[in-house]
Amino acid sequence: MVHQGNRKRQEAEQAKIKIRAFIFDLDGVLTDTAEYHYRAWKRLADEERVPFTRNDNEKLRGISRRASLNLIFQERKLTEYKALELMDRKNGYYREYLNNITTGDLLPGVIELLGKLQARGCRLAMASASKNASTVIEQLNIASYFDAIADGNSVKKTKPAPDLFLYAANQLGLLPENCLVVEDAEAGIVAARVAGMVTIGIGPPERVGEADYVYPSVEAIELDDIQGIGC
Ligand code: BG6
Ligand code: MG
Repeated sequence: MVHQGNRKRQEAEQAKIKIRAFIFDLDGVLTDTAEYHYRAWKRLADEERVPFTRNDNEKLRGISRRASLNLIFQERKLTEYKALELMDRKNGYYREYLNNITTGDLLPGVIELLGKLQARGCRLAMASASKNASTVIEQLNIASYFDAIADGNSVKKTKPAPDLFLYAANQLGLLPENCLVVEDAEAGIVAARVAGMVTIGIGPPERVGEADYVYPSVEAIELDDIQGIGC
């Protein structure tokens, strides 16, 4: 049994070390599945004669399938039966498009960054709201990089709630303050900040400007800019 005082001391020492793990979002950070989500929602919206544009799709970044459905069909009163049927249909279309994903769909700089972090001894995790995340990372052939995976099946409340990131930190056996999150969605940055983690935002400042560090792409991340990396 670990003595209470010892545990507190261990935790305090761990916290001082600062960043020991990088937690990556999947869609929009490691690969650009946003396009496939768009095409699947668009196909469904057209079939249901509901307006849906690429601009509308931007609001769906990072949020769950159910939250996306609610935004697209907000004008309609849906029975639970209908809502489940619509989500199922959209997911069928999305999974059709996912069949085409290969390692060629990794965004530029991703493999280099994962390799660099792994070589430094940083722990790596993936935290995605998607229930399809494991299929995607298998097809991208990057599963072996991650010490922990949190996806849409791991927690009840997904982003902007902090639960997915806290789940990933817990799987890594680390405190939230020892984790840095890489995210492309506003909802993801909010979630990581609420979790008490350091954040890198990928994308325009109007979307991820609340992050501690902002880069236009993963390829542009400069590890030397980031303070307190302890791995
Ligand atoms: C997130 C995407 O990663 O996963 C969202 O950014 C998507 O756009 C969400 O809605 C849920 O995905 P899925 O695969 O469970 O429908
Ligand atoms: Mg994302």
